[in-house]
Amino acid sequence: MSLICFSCSSKAQKQTADINAQSDKRILVAYFSCTGTTEKTADAIGKAVGGKLYRITPAEAYTSADLDWNNKASRSSVEMTTENSRPELGGEQIDIEDYDVVFLGYPIWWDLCPRPVNTFLEKYDFSGKTVILFATSGGSSITNSVKQLKKLYPKIVWGESRLLNGGVKQAGEWAKQVIE
Ligand SMILES: Cc1cc2nc3c(=O)[nH]c(=O)nc-3n(C[C@H](O)[C@H](O)[C@H](O)COP(=O)(O)O)c2cc1C
Repeated sequence: MSLICFSCSSKAQKQTADINAQSDKRILVAYFSCTGTTEKTADAIGKAVGGKLYRITPAEAYTSADLDWNNKASRSSVEMTTENSRPELGGEQIDIEDYDVVFLGYPIWWDLCPRPVNTFLEKYDFSGKTVILFATSGGSSITNSVKQLKKLYPKIVWGESRLLNGGVKQAGEWAKQVIE
């Protein structure tokens, strides 16, 4: 009798564990950031949703001269005016298959996402995942960058997207609500 009970309760426990495993989303928070603003936002999102942080690292770091948008010949200006520019990435590889949901954050550059974000999206296989975009900016909206990414990568399942210029509290609250 006690053996039967043991077997019943262990089956019940297994079922509970299975249900938990199904509802527990494995979350990656990938971000590109040159001057730290998007990084702080990504960090807040990671903490709020229990996600793993991953910094998208260019093989060659951007200097402040590279980031000068007033100079048409600066690296960022040249990349952003060259539609198919895909700057090489460095940093560690990520096992993207370990995640179900990917928050992907970037600063708005020229009303779009920086080109290394395109390199990242083309380097890994995002099929079967939901990608949720967020951005920081000097005032521009996220709309154009989202539109462009959806057009370029129609096979990706895109979740909500949000410009997060309102600080880390706003970022954490939004992220929690978006994965509910
Ligand atoms: C090359 C470059 C282009 C930018 N273009 C825009 C833009 O089109 N609109 C805007 O609102 N902000 C623009 N910004 C400002 C950044 O989006 C903003 O400062 C952002 O929060 C920086 O994020 P980070 O510190 O994570 O790099 C640009 C910044 C750089 C360096």
